[in-house]
Amino acid sequence: MSTTTTATTANAAHPSSVSALMREIEHLGRDRTRGGYSRPVYSHPELELREWFLAAAAARGLDVEIDANGIIWAWWDRPDGNRSGALITGSHLDSVPGGGAFDGPLGVTAALAAVDLLRSEGRQPSVAIAIAVFPEEEGSRFGVACLGSRLLTGAIDPDRARSLRDADGTTFAEASAAAGFDPRHLGPDPSRVAQFSAFIELHVEQGRGLVDLAGPVAIGSSILGHGRWRVSFTGQGNHAGTTLMADRRDPMVAAARLIVGIEEIARTVPGARATVGRLEPVPGGTNVIASRVDAWLDVRHPDDDVTAALVERIRTRASEVAAQQGCEAVLVEESLSPTVSFDANLRDTLQHALPEAPVLDTGAGHDAGVLAAHLPTAMLFIRNPSGISHSPEEYVEDADADHGARALATAIMAVEAAPH
Ligand code: GLV
Ligand code: MN
Ligand code: MN
Repeated sequence: MSTTTTATTANAAHPSSVSALMREIEHLGRDRTRGGYSRPVYSHPELELREWFLAAAAARGLDVEIDANGIIWAWWDRPDGNRSGALITGSHLDSVPGGGAFDGPLGVTAALAAVDLLRSEGRQPSVAIAIAVFPEEEGSRFGVACLGSRLLTGAIDPDRARSLRDADGTTFAEASAAAGFDPRHLGPDPSRVAQFSAFIELHVEQGRGLVDLAGPVAIGSSILGHGRWRVSFTGQGNHAGTTLMADRRDPMVAAARLIVGIEEIARTVPGARATVGRLEPVPGGTNVIASRVDAWLDVRHPDDDVTAALVERIRTRASEVAAQQGCEAVLVEESLSPTVSFDANLRDTLQHALPEAPVLDTGAGHDAGVLAAHLPTAMLFIRNPSGISHSPEEYVEDADADHGARALATAIMAVEAAPH
């Protein structure tokens, strides 16, 4: 596909700054209606971002491959071409609707900048380095977060992935085919995963931890367990003017009561977060009583048993509020990710290499959380002065971004030198 975006030519004498790389993509996927960026996987802007990355990798002489799951791998190979024990970094380029500029792209641009930095210093790691770009990390188009890394590691059945549908009814199989991948080949790739010795994902911090600690970079300790559920309320579609209040079976009212109930229930559980951020009435007309309303629920808690119990309370409440309106409710799990603690040895290596960096946990999900079940993984978080994410207000100072690339380069050299 053609692209209007130019990737700068990097050379060993002129490493790219992260901010220069971020500027190359700042026009892609801007959302004039919501603000911020909307870059759903395999949409035009996300495909342009992928093209930009391929060009940026090629400009650096990295060997690029795109695997059967649509994951891009840009290899900085050893002179002998041996990729066993490879160290992986990178992140994602897709976004939530109306998201910030940094969630995902910061980890990709910082990885390119870290490679530039190491090369400008004449340093070559003893293992191959690959920069990965994972598709559908946010799950904002097909509903399941970290779909690329789940497919790679076998954490989702490829048949289920193929049949996931976006809001327009397009399946993931169809979207993959349109993006140039044969959907029959989606699925686990254990021999590829077995090549990797570690994954380090750099990411914008999505809360205020580093603002309060007044530092630019933190090392990740854990990811809060989280999941997504769809609650469908079914009632009777009808006319807004002719249907008396007493005669209605309005699923929108049931959904509204559940949303208020979820807030009440979650507030009684310390550490819990529960959100309904998406609601779809069918058919969705101002003068139409909906026949069905789908609400998507996101629940997170450090203790996976507590999450499960919380969801059961919400399921019960959904049935109760549905019955009050003469409706029915069905709650279905769409994805579930247990709480993940990152590899302790890898974290120790990073702490030794970056002694100033505090250790922070996160409530946000990442591909690093999926890969953690298969290889040592670690994360670096970069200060976000707004403390806000999944919103246009997400922000990173240029100097902090470059500090992050330097920290990633330091981490790469420390990890490749550490005994495995
Ligand atoms: C992704 O950023 C998530 O935490 O849902
Ligand atoms: Mn992210
Ligand atoms: Mn995100």
